[in-house]
Amino acid sequence: MSTLEIRDLHVAVEDKEILRGVNLTVRAGETHALMGPNGSGKSTLAYAVAGHPKYTITSGTVTLDGEDVLSMSVDERARAGLFLAMQYPVEVPGVSVSNFLRSAVTAVRGEAPKLRVFTKELKEGMDALSIDPAFAQRNLNEGFSGGEKKRHEILQLELLKPKIAILDETDSGLDVDALRVVSEGVNRFGASGETGVLLITHYTRILRYVKPDFVHVFAGGRVVEEGGPELADQLEAEGYERYTKATA
Ligand SMILES: Nc1ncnc2c1ncn2[C@@H]1O[C@H](COP(=O)(O)OP(=O)(O)O)[C@@H](O)[C@H]1O
Ligand SMILES: [Mg+2]
Repeated sequence: MSTLEIRDLHVAVEDKEILRGVNLTVRAGETHALMGPNGSGKSTLAYAVAGHPKYTITSGTVTLDGEDVLSMSVDERARAGLFLAMQYPVEVPGVSVSNFLRSAVTAVRGEAPKLRVFTKELKEGMDALSIDPAFAQRNLNEGFSGGEKKRHEILQLELLKPKIAILDETDSGLDVDALRVVSEGVNRFGASGETGVLLITHYTRILRYVKPDFVHVFAGGRVVEEGGPELADQLEAEGYERYTKATA
């Protein structure tokens, strides 16, 4: 069973310390919600684990099944079984969804799937998510609605079958349709037992649809409280104020 372990992680952006000792363990088959106020460093954690060059690890460790993630290239992280869906996906004119997904699958599996096999796989994945077949030929992320971005994200999960998926789902475009797509996808992945999901979110609303096994409250660049689903209900009722006061 796969385990992502983050230990005492400190991360700086342009010489400013943002993460101040993050400890978090996510195992395959578990769904974790990481929740916290805006600016608390949630996306910084996702970017740091993804290997974004702007984020400097000043101390601490990140391992996947004991392997040092921080020494891996971005491609190696994907191949090791890490999947990171970012809050603001980039538009790529001239690259279709289908081409992008085939490249991603090739990078993760280490060899290109036969076109015929991939086309079938893609079609099955799209059917399961009720995605219009024409979607595969569209330019990557160009003019995608909130719901389409989320369907694309979950489609990537279906095709790449990561060991650990980190989904940064804050504020952006989570209309009711998008919310439903994400929660159904996350619930299905959680239930498969093969993928560990870390759902990063500002809004407690999503937790009416997703039932996390663990909830972590993030404030001031670290995890300040942990609990089960009942903690999400408490956050929805009370908000983050008591945590922001404590770290200010
Ligand atoms: N690329 C960046 N350049 C400059 N500052 C950044 C960058 N990324 C994050 N920060 C700063 O780090 C802090 C945490 O931001 P972020 O991780 O986006 O928080 P959250 O996702 O919890 O809203 C903020 O003060 C933000 O301004
Ligand atoms: Mg964010």
